[in-house]
Amino acid sequence: MFSALCRPAMLAVSVCVLTSLALLAPAATAAQTQAPQPATLTVQADKPLHAVSPTLYGLMTEEINYSYDGGLYAEMVRNRTFTHDWMGVPYWILDNAGDAEATMKWDETDGPSEALQSSVVIDVTRASGSAPVRLRNNGWWGMALQPHTAYNLSFYLRTDARAAAMRVSLVNDDTGSIEAEGTLVDAFGSSWGRHTMELTTKDVKTFSAHNHLELQFLNAGKYSLQLVSLMPPTYKNRANGNRADLMEMMSAMHPTFLRMPGGNYLEGNYINERFDWKTTIGPLVDRPTHRGPWGYQSSDGMGLLEFLEWTEDLKIEPVLAVYAGYSLKGDHIIAGPAMQPFVDDALDEIEFVTGDASTKWGAMRAKLGHPAPFPLHYVEIGNEDNLDHSGSYESRYVQFHRAIKTKYPNLQLIATAPLKRFFKPDVVDDHYYKRAEDFFDMVHYYDDADRNGPKIFVGEWATREGGPTTDWGAALGDAAWMTGMERNSDLIVMAAYAPLFVNVNPGGMQWESNLIGYNAAHSYGAPSYYAQSLFAQYLGTSVPTSSITGAGSRFFYSVTADAAKGTLYLKLVNASTLPQPLHLALSGAHVSNEATVWTLHAATRSETNTLDDPKRIAPVKSSLKAADAIDHTVPPLTVQVLVLTTR
Ligand code: AHR
Repeated sequence: MFSALCRPAMLAVSVCVLTSLALLAPAATAAQTQAPQPATLTVQADKPLHAVSPTLYGLMTEEINYSYDGGLYAEMVRNRTFTHDWMGVPYWILDNAGDAEATMKWDETDGPSEALQSSVVIDVTRASGSAPVRLRNNGWWGMALQPHTAYNLSFYLRTDARAAAMRVSLVNDDTGSIEAEGTLVDAFGSSWGRHTMELTTKDVKTFSAHNHLELQFLNAGKYSLQLVSLMPPTYKNRANGNRADLMEMMSAMHPTFLRMPGGNYLEGNYINERFDWKTTIGPLVDRPTHRGPWGYQSSDGMGLLEFLEWTEDLKIEPVLAVYAGYSLKGDHIIAGPAMQPFVDDALDEIEFVTGDASTKWGAMRAKLGHPAPFPLHYVEIGNEDNLDHSGSYESRYVQFHRAIKTKYPNLQLIATAPLKRFFKPDVVDDHYYKRAEDFFDMVHYYDDADRNGPKIFVGEWATREGGPTTDWGAALGDAAWMTGMERNSDLIVMAAYAPLFVNVNPGGMQWESNLIGYNAAHSYGAPSYYAQSLFAQYLGTSVPTSSITGAGSRFFYSVTADAAKGTLYLKLVNASTLPQPLHLALSGAHVSNEATVWTLHAATRSETNTLDDPKRIAPVKSSLKAADAIDHTVPPLTVQVLVLTTR
């Protein structure tokens, strides 16, 4: 769709202009007649102001918008533990063939474990191989099946049927074609047992989400069922692991950390709905599941160890948020003895992450299959405690801070609201959800901030324009904001966009501006996904002295340098509808011949990417002849990253 056209420019520079930019930007064509003033960007490459935080860009996710269940966590069965409501058991359909007869009930008193003390009972009064009772699960808005691929089915079952037999199929919704099938005969007893089967698909014709799972009961009896799971191949073949496409998309963002497990998801609506990490580890049958704050039950398949393995797979570090005694509906615990169990829980959690096998919780982690401790430098105490209007945060924070620093003096502790009286936290977490115009106005917000106070973690930020994933206007707001964060990366140690994920099916979204959208089969990034990936990939280690004159009010930039690599990275954001001619005057280094230019552009602010048009707005690579003085025009509504080689 895009092609580069190189033309001679003023001075000794040849500029590669993307033809589509020229052709697709009528506003620019009209505006060019207005002859915008050239701006001058002066960069003193030998005068670094400060280092860039090596952990500036990271990730933040939580269970929102079906981010884990129905998203990153690869489980294909929806409601695998048969949570029920007044209408019955959602997402499970009893569908009898021929003259087969059965009812489905819920038994609150019988389950395979202490955590799962209930089950669904399929009471089959008539069934046969040719007329089975079918229990269907449609997955998370469908199930995606690859050809010639093994899917691992498991479930807990007990039955009074003699010689019970079951057939299990993966079926195409549209054609009825059986893509994979297996049979279990006489394998069941009257006590709870876990049964497994590998289902290997045949030559699946079209890769889509239009498939479902069928458990078929072939003869009469009462069948009690619990924890039905179907796992596809996962990223790096982790057992109980993650979807490969979403892991690859995160990896391409060049993150350095993962803030986990929330967000509101850490706190829960009520204290007993918090992320209670001890109930999220170990075999799935020992996880009771819990209600999340975004309106649905969490399977807790994404438990604490899975979060940590996710960081390991992306070669990044966790930023561990611990529950700090406040939940979203206002319940809170007063600092003092009542809080101590929660403080102890946080200390245990840190030990689970970092302790070796000689410690109680390090030994537990080793027993669960991960003997090596995980790296950990930052612990966050709570989430958005500025919303706790009872005023309890300061004393809650202090109790956690003292206990954690006593045992782990090297950990950096993050407060989620400014503290007024007691002492200085290492870092404060600031959150910004804004419109693009607000971010344009806030680009210099941190320029004059106090450098003697706590460091800043921008733990959640986003331009909220467009949904379910954000549009090009939002990407311009985000890119402008990132130039400000890079310039202030002596103060801002970390930053993470939120929310990261959304399942774009109807009903999948609770928060209307997100970065990566998907259904069961496909995924895509919002335009801002590409802006963020470029900004993180092309980031230097220091911020050189620079200044700009003559630029329009909607033009933003950042410069970082990597002396070891001999590279200068220029981020140029033209959020206006006029082209911005720019004269770059570089001193203190010489630029070699050719610079790489990455361009992101759309003709209007409301253009966007979708599942059907996933790369409508994506980076286009070109080059320009570079010298110590460069004249270059940044097209309207455009983000560019220039990679200059210096000597
Ligand atoms: O990112 C969505 C929500 O915004 C987070 O859960 C919460 O921390 C913030 O209010």
